[in-house]
Amino acid sequence: MSIRPPKKSCAVRDFLKPLKLSNDILCDIMKRLLKEVNKGLSKDTHEMAAVKCFLTYVQDLPTGQETGRYLAIDLGGANFRILLITLGPEKKFKMDARTYAFPEEKMVGGADEFFDYIAECVQTFKSTLKIENEEFPLGFCFSFPVETSGLNKGILTQWAKRFQVAGVVGKDVVALLQQALDKRNLKVKIKALVNDTTGCLMSCAWKDPNCRIGVIIGTGTNACYMEKIENVETFPDKSKPYMIINTEWGNFGSDGSLNDILTECDRQVDAISLRPGKEIFEKMVSVMYVCELIRICMVKCAELKYLFQGEITDHLKLKGTFLPEFMYDIEKDDTNLRKTMAILEESFLIHDVTMIDCANVQYIVKVICERSACLLSAAISTLVNKMALSPITIAIDGGMYRNHPFEMLLSQDGSGRGTALVAASIKK
Ligand code: BGC
Repeated sequence: MSIRPPKKSCAVRDFLKPLKLSNDILCDIMKRLLKEVNKGLSKDTHEMAAVKCFLTYVQDLPTGQETGRYLAIDLGGANFRILLITLGPEKKFKMDARTYAFPEEKMVGGADEFFDYIAECVQTFKSTLKIENEEFPLGFCFSFPVETSGLNKGILTQWAKRFQVAGVVGKDVVALLQQALDKRNLKVKIKALVNDTTGCLMSCAWKDPNCRIGVIIGTGTNACYMEKIENVETFPDKSKPYMIINTEWGNFGSDGSLNDILTECDRQVDAISLRPGKEIFEKMVSVMYVCELIRICMVKCAELKYLFQGEITDHLKLKGTFLPEFMYDIEKDDTNLRKTMAILEESFLIHDVTMIDCANVQYIVKVICERSACLLSAAISTLVNKMALSPITIAIDGGMYRNHPFEMLLSQDGSGRGTALVAASIKK
């Protein structure tokens, strides 16, 4: 006899209705995003645009002929990594990578400690690999909104995700890091400043020349794409046909253009975030915020007595306690909800969890992940339509993608390999 799964309750279903977006709304969101992208590209409106469409100064895709040894720093995603990448003839590739902890207090402390910590890790990395005495060009993958003014020059316009380091916004992050590296006499020269989306695109384009868009859907979200140079009003030199544009679409909605689709729970995620009012799109789709959204929906449903008979434990109330692995495990739970039950009981210490509670929680997770996927698809489609090129391969990376079944080309280590490829494509 097969056991019928418990049904979610009508009350929870009704509560979640505002999170379900119709096709019409999604098509309208595509129009709004296109308008924002055009604002970012236009000279007159760039300054005030929510979606900045920053120049990357990357105008050539890799040829596959790149060679050399490069260091890369990858900062801003789930992991902080340093890599030594060797590109050999015939696309030979070797990578040595180490992941370092990034202490929470350094993410929200001062600029000096922040950059010195990165330099200290580079020093440790070089000595671990016994390459202290060698000189290296370095690619810095810094996954934050940066107004770039050259391949290795860029001013941080605002922090994102869990970072809020004082004294960096408005400054050139390459100069700050170079100073910290030089203080320790590390024999590295920053050649390229790259966003993870550019790394993702470059890494895939190395294998697939049709690759034209790079998307990250992980802790944060963003996309870059190859734009025709005549559409890039903010860049006067038209001698090359394209430039990769870093859209910074995570900030879409920060001018109020998504207000009509925000739910009460979205507003709360925003209100308790490090930068209320900013990165609204990112707060609706990326892992870090979607987890918070799930937690807050659970709290609201418990307050309304739709869940856990109204019990709200201290753990459930605490920001950041709903981890990405809970989301993936619950969404895919095919153990008659035993895994979901264990998470609620063991990690949130909720008493008397019922099977209906588990079904309701799984439904909350599914609805929120589905909205994230729909919004992301709408955003990707906006770029594909805008580019009107065929065929287009989309490079994609990030935890949300890795843990959900879509058919796209996984960017193999974009922020490491792709960053090295950008560094390699710069003429010495
Ligand atoms: C940052 C982007 C980055 C994205 C994905 C966002 O928070 O602003 O620069 O590409 O996260 O890591």
